[in-house]
Amino acid sequence: MSEPTPKFKVTIDNITVEVDPGTTILNAARAIGGEVAPPAMCYYSKLKNSGGKCRTCLVEVSKGSEKDPRPMPKLVASCRTTVMDGMEVKNITSPKVQDARNGVVEFLLLNHPLDCPVCDQAGECDLQNLSYNHGQENTRYEFPRRTFEKEDLGPYISLHMNRCIMCFRCVYAAGQLTDKREHGVLERGDHAQISTMLNKALDNEFIGNVIDVCPVGALTDKTFRFKNRVWFTKPMDAHRDCPTCSGKVRLWMRGEEVFRVTARKDQWGEVEDWICNDCRFHKKETKDWVIEGPTNVSRKSVISQGHYVGTRKTPVLIDKVMGKTPNYRLEIHEISDVNKPNVHLSQISGPAHSDDFK
Ligand code: SF4
Ligand code: FES
Repeated sequence: MSEPTPKFKVTIDNITVEVDPGTTILNAARAIGGEVAPPAMCYYSKLKNSGGKCRTCLVEVSKGSEKDPRPMPKLVASCRTTVMDGMEVKNITSPKVQDARNGVVEFLLLNHPLDCPVCDQAGECDLQNLSYNHGQENTRYEFPRRTFEKEDLGPYISLHMNRCIMCFRCVYAAGQLTDKREHGVLERGDHAQISTMLNKALDNEFIGNVIDVCPVGALTDKTFRFKNRVWFTKPMDAHRDCPTCSGKVRLWMRGEEVFRVTARKDQWGEVEDWICNDCRFHKKETKDWVIEGPTNVSRKSVISQGHYVGTRKTPVLIDKVMGKTPNYRLEIHEISDVNKPNVHLSQISGPAHSDDFK
């Protein structure tokens, strides 16, 4: 029997983890979890060749390895850099990284419109989350922003190129999940844009997945657009016997009405199982589905508001790393005197009143 490959020891933000050789710093940090994992706007573990485009995952390597302890001279993209044995990495403990990330977010927002109040992605947008932590209040950009006409990619998908951050995820998803890709990146540099060749419709059976991989509101579901704010809907895990895909989906419901169907996503916001267009766009009745129960929503997400069942805590490691516990803006259930977790809002007849919380 062959010997098991020895693991590499890597320390990220003062927490040590053992991983297989060849693991990227980002995935080693994800193995630790919580805030130690750098944000990733273009890397997607299920898409080959993704990563290396957005630079939000930059980290500082303060010790290269046990054999060669010299630090790396520049910040590196953690999604594209593999670990070495004895490597030491700083993410949230590095002021240089935080500063660089602020700069990256400023660049990502150069052309991005501030239309969160009308954008369907609001409430589940990676760029919106990143802007809360690293964005500036004002822009320093003095030039006109790039603007594009809204484009329909087939009957179900709308492309709002103004919001695109050129992460390439949709291009990889279309190339790797479908056999007849007709959309891609046209032009280069600051002229680059996602488009379809000759505006051909994308009618492939799995093309709807590009909506789920888009980290911003550039690709949206036309069957859901402007129908509801995502935090007013209740996500439920459901499945059906589908001849094309796994049939395991997330229903976004309000009462008995299914407003949207998406793939299920893991804690890093990545699709667990790709789903077909039929499940996504055509099965909008509760009778089409076997409902399993409420989705576990992170308590830090705005989608968890009003859901006292099915919320999940994410590991909080920041006190281990920094020696202090922060006050999370969205941990309303714990820090507010009003939102008691034992009060079921759905059981209160009429609008909730302060008496209901006594
Ligand atoms: S449309 Fe969305 S997924 Fe595609 S490149 Fe732009 S931001 Fe990325
Ligand atoms: S996630 Fe690493 S460069 Fe985008």
